[in-house]
Amino acid sequence: MTLSTAQIRQKFIDYFKRHGHQPVASSSLVPADDPTLLFTNAGMNQFKDVFLGSEKRSYSRAVSSQRCVRAGGKHNDLENVGYTARHHTFFEMMGNFSFGDYFKQQAIEFAWKFLTEELGLAKEKLLVTVYSDDDEAFDIWENQIGVPKEKIIRISTSDNFWSMGDTGPCGPCSEIFYDHGEHIWGGPPGTPEEDGDRFIEIWNLVFMQYNKQADGSMEPLPKPSIDTGMGLERISAIMQDVHSNYEIDLFQQLIKAAAQVVGSNDLQDKSLRVIADHIRSCSFLICDGVMPGNEGRGYVLRRIIRRAVRHGYKLGAKDIFFYKLVAALTTEMGEAYPELADQRPVIEKVLKVEEEQFSKTLSRGMAMLSDVLNELDGDTVPGEIVFKLYDTYGFPADLTADVAREQDYKIDEAGFEQAMQQQRQRAQQASNFGMNYNAQLKVEHTTQFTGYTDVDGDATVLEVIYDNALCDALEDGQEGIIVLDNTPFYAEAGGQAGDKGVLEVSGGEFVVADTKKMGNAFAHFGQVHGVVKKGDTATARIDADNREAVKKNHSATHLLHAALREILGEHVTQKGSLVEAQRMRFDFSQFEAISAEQLAHIERRVNEEVRANHPLTTELMDLEEAKASGAMALFGEKYDEKVRVVKMGPFSIELCGGTHVNQTGDIGLFKIIGESGIASGVRRIEAVTGAAAIDHVQRQQQLLAEVAGLLKSDVSGIAGRIGQLQTQQKELEKALGAAKQKLASQQGADMLGQAVEINGVKVLISQLDGVEAKALRGMVDDLKNRMGEGIVVLGVTAENKVNLIVGVTKGLTGKVKAGELVNFLAGQVGGKGGGRPDMAQAGGDQPENLGGALDSVNAWLSDKL
Ligand code: ALA
Repeated sequence: MTLSTAQIRQKFIDYFKRHGHQPVASSSLVPADDPTLLFTNAGMNQFKDVFLGSEKRSYSRAVSSQRCVRAGGKHNDLENVGYTARHHTFFEMMGNFSFGDYFKQQAIEFAWKFLTEELGLAKEKLLVTVYSDDDEAFDIWENQIGVPKEKIIRISTSDNFWSMGDTGPCGPCSEIFYDHGEHIWGGPPGTPEEDGDRFIEIWNLVFMQYNKQADGSMEPLPKPSIDTGMGLERISAIMQDVHSNYEIDLFQQLIKAAAQVVGSNDLQDKSLRVIADHIRSCSFLICDGVMPGNEGRGYVLRRIIRRAVRHGYKLGAKDIFFYKLVAALTTEMGEAYPELADQRPVIEKVLKVEEEQFSKTLSRGMAMLSDVLNELDGDTVPGEIVFKLYDTYGFPADLTADVAREQDYKIDEAGFEQAMQQQRQRAQQASNFGMNYNAQLKVEHTTQFTGYTDVDGDATVLEVIYDNALCDALEDGQEGIIVLDNTPFYAEAGGQAGDKGVLEVSGGEFVVADTKKMGNAFAHFGQVHGVVKKGDTATARIDADNREAVKKNHSATHLLHAALREILGEHVTQKGSLVEAQRMRFDFSQFEAISAEQLAHIERRVNEEVRANHPLTTELMDLEEAKASGAMALFGEKYDEKVRVVKMGPFSIELCGGTHVNQTGDIGLFKIIGESGIASGVRRIEAVTGAAAIDHVQRQQQLLAEVAGLLKSDVSGIAGRIGQLQTQQKELEKALGAAKQKLASQQGADMLGQAVEINGVKVLISQLDGVEAKALRGMVDDLKNRMGEGIVVLGVTAENKVNLIVGVTKGLTGKVKAGELVNFLAGQVGGKGGGRPDMAQAGGDQPENLGGALDSVNAWLSDKL
């Protein structure tokens, strides 16, 4: 019986569980404890600290099936995916781990027995490698396991020395290879033909022994350990007797589902493989909180989605299709990864929105690219074109490369990078427009920040800057910058605004409007009254009320962040924030609109934590230690070795350098004043706290009282009163409409008396005032009915406009066309018009000519009738 991929995954876990290993769930694709890593790329990532000895677990043996993504970043294989038998953006790594428990011998035995006994692979099909000087491993393979000498290959390259990154746990390794047979080209590892497809690495056993330091030296780990990794897709291919990973059951199901949604019949088409691969990475990335965006992880995700979409359209997809595959993926993998099933609605939604957006420009971009390729001299698409496709049509460069490659062209990557660089510079220049002292002036000092505890203090003026240049003094009235050796003024950072206040010196005072960082120095921006000189002693005093308000808002953003994650889900991550005295603003990833109930819930939740009056603690910790304690860190932020951890009870713990309240009760009241979407997948909440929140509530109340006064009601009766008024208004409108109609019909009857006869035909020509253009048609219909046969010509002036309408009864349209007549008239009042032969309307902007125009009707009709 052939084992399914799901069965092989389960067999692996069960086998190691039987041998004393703790099954550990896959960690997120977004590494929780490592901002330097783009995506989780190996099973050992989540155990890094356990290997290093800085984290203890209750077990010393573990087994996992870890979701991994290897796309984006430096080693970007995206372009190859779908075209080779084994490149993937997403794959599953099965691994067993020993943390100072067993070492080489047992690791080798476990692996060999699993392959040959549990899975029943033929021993002759297997060969192994060891690191060149690892005699111990060689000996175990030869003498304990019985692998013939010639099938144990010593490798001296980094292929057999695994390390997680430039620093961190590492060690020599031993790899197990499978021989797919002579009919496939390729040679054993270490030979010039090793890149062929015959001998495939299936399992990597890493003998973790060292912690690689930044200077390249190797420090021994506290205890030798084991990390292993076996690609589930590869072993499944072997077990299912197929050569390409895409032929295993799991991929075949996805390929079938993809063929169905795009309407393709050719299951061998490479584009289907691309889509089947990409639905896995995209779904799991979104499941783990990544949102399509223009930078970092979000951009990698966007690139993968767009590549999949493009391949779908190439196969003939007529409609938005990619999100429809989440269902099939959940069937295949939802049991092993329950979070996938939980997040399915969000994943579908995100994929749908992203595809809808991209599909708007896809075909135009493809048309442009195909024109370019048709006319191209040489084999390289110029960088500017690649950039234009990116900038105007949302084509990531690797997507353009992908299309180009299908027709044997390549892209000028360097040229593209250059164009991108230029754009970044332009954007930077635009945002730096105005004042940017930082870029021009270098100040070598380091200012000591005393403001976590103090609101004032004495300091020395180290630098005085006026008009972009260092100088000795600022004179009365001048605006400039002062740098101190120490200061209680917070310099703008992490979204928190810089402090305001005053620097008092013997010669006067410097009023500080803002504080920013300038390298390691703090720059106080402001204006002097009197004189301030370099070397002066200054008493620096912040505006304490302003700071108090800022503190409340800053602490409230942390509570809000935690409440959002609790209520909306773990996908919420901070995308930006602004903390000022007057208010706070918090931007976060969230695809769906937030309902009024959710918003009320969030507000209530934050206020509960305010009332809980948690003392706020801050602590300096090692980055690793901080993350282990569960502190939220922002990806993309560069943190120092030592970080400041801000904690409010058990509810919120974040890395943050800002200033905060002493206890959450100090916030007083947290009031949301706005919620909106600001970009695809990013929403913003604005809120106020403390006195500003009370002000806000009072203003709202006052407004309600005013409205109630106007409605002659009390506040609780407002809604009912407005309902009443609306009903009344509707009734009045109805009555007014009826009255108008009656009036018009009466006017019509009166007007009929004015009709003249031209060559025996009744013609009514009339100029009216104050009739709405909308009412004219009804009036003309009515007049036509009353006349039996005849022609009606009405002209109305209103403000500086003329409206004309001509009606001709059916029996006369052979002789007179309403459209022609109305155009003849419109020409005389500066307009034009048109319509059917029996009814036509026109406008014009020369009311003064309306009389003359109507006078000319008689002669015009005399000719026709
Ligand atoms: N960590 C090892 C690898 O990724 C097992 O190959």
